[in-house]
Amino acid sequence: MKLLAFLGALWIFFICSVHATSDICSAKPKDLPLQPTCVYRNPNVHDDVASQTEQPPEKIPESTNPRVWELSNANGRFALSLFKQLSKGKSDEENIFMSPLSISTAFAMTKLGACNTTLEQIMKVFEFDTIKEKTSDQVHFFFAKLNCRLYRKKHNTVELVSANRLFGEKSLTFRENFQNISELVYGAKLMPLNFKEKPELSRQTINEWISEKTKGKINNTLPQGSIDSTAVLVLVNTIYFKGQWKNKFDKDDVVSSQFHVSESHKCPVHMMYKEAKYMYGKFPEDKVKVLELPYNGGGISMVLVLPNKDTKLSEVATSLTLKKLTGWLTTMAETTVAVQIPRFRIEDSFSLKEKLQAMGLEDLFSAEHARLPGMVEDINDGIYISDAYHKAFLEVNEEGSEAAAATAVVALGRSLNLNRENFIANRPFLLFIRESSINTLIFAGRVSNPCKSG
Ligand SMILES: *[C@@H]1O[C@H](CO)[C@@H](O)[C@H](O)[C@H]1NC(C)=O
Ligand SMILES: *[C@@H]1O[C@H](CO)[C@@H](O)[C@H](O)[C@H]1NC(C)=O
Ligand SMILES: *[C@@H]1O[C@H](CO)[C@@H](O)[C@H](O)[C@H]1NC(C)=O
Repeated sequence: MKLLAFLGALWIFFICSVHATSDICSAKPKDLPLQPTCVYRNPNVHDDVASQTEQPPEKIPESTNPRVWELSNANGRFALSLFKQLSKGKSDEENIFMSPLSISTAFAMTKLGACNTTLEQIMKVFEFDTIKEKTSDQVHFFFAKLNCRLYRKKHNTVELVSANRLFGEKSLTFRENFQNISELVYGAKLMPLNFKEKPELSRQTINEWISEKTKGKINNTLPQGSIDSTAVLVLVNTIYFKGQWKNKFDKDDVVSSQFHVSESHKCPVHMMYKEAKYMYGKFPEDKVKVLELPYNGGGISMVLVLPNKDTKLSEVATSLTLKKLTGWLTTMAETTVAVQIPRFRIEDSFSLKEKLQAMGLEDLFSAEHARLPGMVEDINDGIYISDAYHKAFLEVNEEGSEAAAATAVVALGRSLNLNRENFIANRPFLLFIRESSINTLIFAGRVSNPCKSG
């Protein structure tokens, strides 16, 4: 029997409203019946001993549950590990874009049904085992709290929405406990589909659901042939974000320019320009400049990491750790910066199976070794994840609209503020979209070639 996980994510700029979250946000652990089928106890984690070796002595943000903070950091470390894994399979000139949060969420949902080494590997690869609670069932409670924090309504110009859903073979009985927790924590209701007799129709139904939840930006996520008559369950997580810059780029300040994909390869872009006060830092020892562009309202921002001119992005990316990234972000200062970034649109999609297997998540994808007894009544063996798909989309422009581009009236260098810093993203850079109060990496990517669009 096959089980599929799908993960989708999307990002675009614009204006909108947010769905309200449910009452789980005010619940206490004892109010929630979170008893997954199996529980993993990390033998090395104790509530009273800080894991000093790997955690920087960071201050926990105000009014933040320390465990939620740890979960956010666990997700961040997983994000960078996966990013490195993805880089290995791509040439330096290819873009990368994904929502690591979406991927962690989908696998946390999968974890609800997992036991034995299948469960242990999920705990380790996604670093959920670094949370200083002894047992794995608590992870869901903290995920619920993290989601409350991320998706609660903050401002009507920011929209960050996550939608989760389970699609199950209609002839099977899914465990009530699995369904209950899945719905309570992740808002993921089960929709019965006829995989056995109509796999292709089921695939289309799921793709349409994803398309609807991502406002038509993510289509055809599950590729042809990904669902056959042996599929039993498909897990879907989508994230959708629209935001407006706090400091909009002026359409009149867009100029045609060149992007240096590599030493020998240049391509044309529309470069946007804005001079304003931003959080900014230069880190000569790490050979990068870091800039944070905030969105209007809601504590969400885009972080750009630009290597120095003669430094390769791959060199910066390979040595990047969450500790280093957090270090940069906490030492940056408000600075007047003349910013030039290209207008661009990137889309990325990939199968997660190989990447996660290489990171140590092996049993889940193995028909022989997977242990997922917590999902379907009366079937204990033979359920495994055949693959997991991720697709993400990002568009960056002056304000959000896709309205036709006004071309090129130059404004560069018109201001004679000699103290200002320049941040010219005309060569490959790293990009993160994060919730800044708790430093959750919602999206992560590498812009190596923005020229195909914009
Ligand atoms: C899974 O673990 C349980 C106890 O934790 C054990 O009884 C069982 O034999 C294990 N199953 C497999 C298939 O390894
Ligand atoms: C699942 O939720 C339903 C409705 O809230 C409840 O009646 C049932 O007892 C729950 N089942 C389990 C196994 O928790
Ligand atoms: C996805 O499909 C819808 C409906 O067919 C279409 O309107 C939309 O433009 C498509 N989106 C993309 C990104 O191709």
